[in-house]
Amino acid sequence: MSTSTPKSTNITWHGANVTRDEREEVLGQKGCVVWLTGLSGSGKSTIARRLEQKLLEMGRTAYVLDGDNLRFKLNKDLGFSPEDRTENIRRVGRVAELFCDAGVICITAFISPYRVDRDAAREMVPDGRFVEVHVATDLATCEARDPKGLYGKARAGEIKGFTGIDAPYEAPAAAEITLSTADRSVDASCDALIEGLQGLGLL
Ligand code: ADX
Repeated sequence: MSTSTPKSTNITWHGANVTRDEREEVLGQKGCVVWLTGLSGSGKSTIARRLEQKLLEMGRTAYVLDGDNLRFKLNKDLGFSPEDRTENIRRVGRVAELFCDAGVICITAFISPYRVDRDAAREMVPDGRFVEVHVATDLATCEARDPKGLYGKARAGEIKGFTGIDAPYEAPAAAEITLSTADRSVDASCDALIEGLQGLGLL
């Protein structure tokens, strides 16, 4: 699907009366995208939810976009082919762009296995507002956890094209933050993330 030229004709872009700076001033925070990437079962969703909660406790407005959840509604027409995953991430990137522009801390939890798709999402928001977080739980650990029983099904050949088994995961080459979750609790991971965001001047 082309992302450059809209299918619609006779459409006009309307500028806003209010800038992102003005919205951020009211909210007392900076909008940004905290992009969690990692294997299924790596802990992305759990960390995203807890981080959202911790940020709210700090008086910040955050919102989670989660892979499984978005596939029930916005992305219900998409499966797990490489093309569909690319379209999934493109849409999520665009939604995250809007949250960022609204001044919200948008936390995304998608496998987002392709580097080029994550880079494209990064390009959708202003410089310095995209924080790529590699939830670097290794395959063996994810498979041992197997919270949804999907690795078992993939090994048994009941699911084809499962990330890490017979579909690729391209780990980030230069993520802003890498979380090793093996020896860390969810809370400790979130604290490391908050520290990282503070270090980047986003909190
Ligand atoms: S992504 O690759 O397009 O970024 P996304 O994060 O939206 O994936 O969805 C991943 C979730 O879908 C997994 O956590 C898992 O629950 C489920 N899932 C179902 N089939 C697959 C598959 N073939 N590969 C990976 N995840 C799958």
